[in-house]
Amino acid sequence: MSRFVRSVGTRLSLALLLVVAAALGIVYLAVVPSLRSHLEDTRLAQLAAATTHLAPEATKATNFCCQDDFVETSAHDVGARVMIFQTTPIPGGLSIGSPIADSSVAGPAHAEPTNDPIATKALESGSVEQGFVTDGGVHYAEAAVPYGRGAFVLLLRDSLESQLGSVHLVQRRVLLAAGAALVIALLLGYGGAWMFARRIRRLERAADRIAGGDFDVPVRDSGGDELGDLAVAFERMRVRLAQLDDARREFVANASHELRTPLFSLAGFLELLDDESLDEATRLEFLDSMREQVARLTKLASDLLDLTRLDAGRLRVEREPVDLGALSEELAEEFAPTAAASGHELAVRPAGTAVGLGDELRTLQIGRILVENALRHTPPGTAVRLKVFTHGGCAVLEVEDESGGIPRERQEQLFERFFRLEGTRASGSGLGLAIARQLAQLMDGSVTVESVPGRTVFALQLPLAAQAERRPEPAGILD
Ligand SMILES: Nc1ncnc2c1ncn2[C@@H]1O[C@H](COP(=O)(O)OP(=O)(O)OP(=O)(O)O)[C@@H](O)[C@H]1O
Ligand SMILES: [Mg+2]
Repeated sequence: MSRFVRSVGTRLSLALLLVVAAALGIVYLAVVPSLRSHLEDTRLAQLAAATTHLAPEATKATNFCCQDDFVETSAHDVGARVMIFQTTPIPGGLSIGSPIADSSVAGPAHAEPTNDPIATKALESGSVEQGFVTDGGVHYAEAAVPYGRGAFVLLLRDSLESQLGSVHLVQRRVLLAAGAALVIALLLGYGGAWMFARRIRRLERAADRIAGGDFDVPVRDSGGDELGDLAVAFERMRVRLAQLDDARREFVANASHELRTPLFSLAGFLELLDDESLDEATRLEFLDSMREQVARLTKLASDLLDLTRLDAGRLRVEREPVDLGALSEELAEEFAPTAAASGHELAVRPAGTAVGLGDELRTLQIGRILVENALRHTPPGTAVRLKVFTHGGCAVLEVEDESGGIPRERQEQLFERFFRLEGTRASGSGLGLAIARQLAQLMDGSVTVESVPGRTVFALQLPLAAQAERRPEPAGILD
């Protein structure tokens, strides 16, 4: 099928054309035949009425000279040809033969009817009869009535040409109007459909652009119809994809930058180690620094892997009861050497218990991120406290420190990837909190921050394990 036939424009205009043609056809069939039969029936009824009316007068004018006058005058009055037949007896009945008086002038167009069927019928029935006859290719309406005790038959005949003329006129006008309506419908339909198709093509081009990675040109459509709604949806998709593309670029740029720093540092140390005059103490110091950079690279690589898995939805988490009390003790034990090294006082205070529902290893990972931050980003000698309790149907693990306070407008930004506060004490990649929040969300929990000068609290909330077991009953608090 050619593109022209398959196009929406052609199909829509053809559909419109068909609808208009069908509507006009119905109008034609409803109007023309009924108009024709109405006009013919009306004329026939008029002739029948006139016949009834003229019969008594015809009875009075039975002699021949009077009959001629009578038919002339009557024809003039009723506007039809008037004929009188005299019946003649034949074996088995009566015959009417040719008219003895006729209002019409002689000639081929006015041939005298012989044995007219309507007149014969009237003679047989003895009452007024009416009907249509065709004589010499012309249609007539006729009405007849016998009178003079069956000796005569009065016949009125009128050609239906004038009625048919009116019908033909209406017929011509309807056909003309139909032709004009079809042309207009075709033009309007094709014009409208062409504009509609043009909007579809514009959307198609926009979709191609977006598929090709070009998110710069906005998708616009001024129509308020379904196509307009589609364009709005396309525009939403474009904006979202542009944001995702920006985020992806930013992520790649940040990740490359973060990877480059320790790599540069390692390359520098390798150069320095090449120096043969290096004393043993400096060499060991360099090796220590290199180990630190390798550890940083390893952590960065595993953080990036976690984020990639989280983004792709490929990171699976268990749903198991996690005792946050035991977990906080484990964290305190694990970080005790680090806290001692940085001069922090690390303690679980007050000791509490709350069993959340989540993945134990991932919960431990989040706890590590929060405790590590509290130890790295606060001044030495300050206290870091771990608290476990239940609140609002959640099991909560809080890590509280005595840092200077994080400005309110920055607090949500901490959870963005690669974000670090200006003047941060220790160098990190800015990924820890982003991973912590995404992991918590994956377990239907959350990580929040509250900070005032001298006190910053990061809290992990997980759904209560007891609540999940007793569902759908109201949540209970487990202490
Ligand atoms: N307890 C805290 N007190 C003060 N500032 C904090 C605290 N925790 C985090 N921050 C600030 O939030 C920033 C983001 O923390 P996040 O853990 O995401 O990254 P990071 O610690 O810098 O690097 P890493 O990816 O190694 O964890 C930190 O750089 C720091 O500026
Ligand atoms: Mg961190």
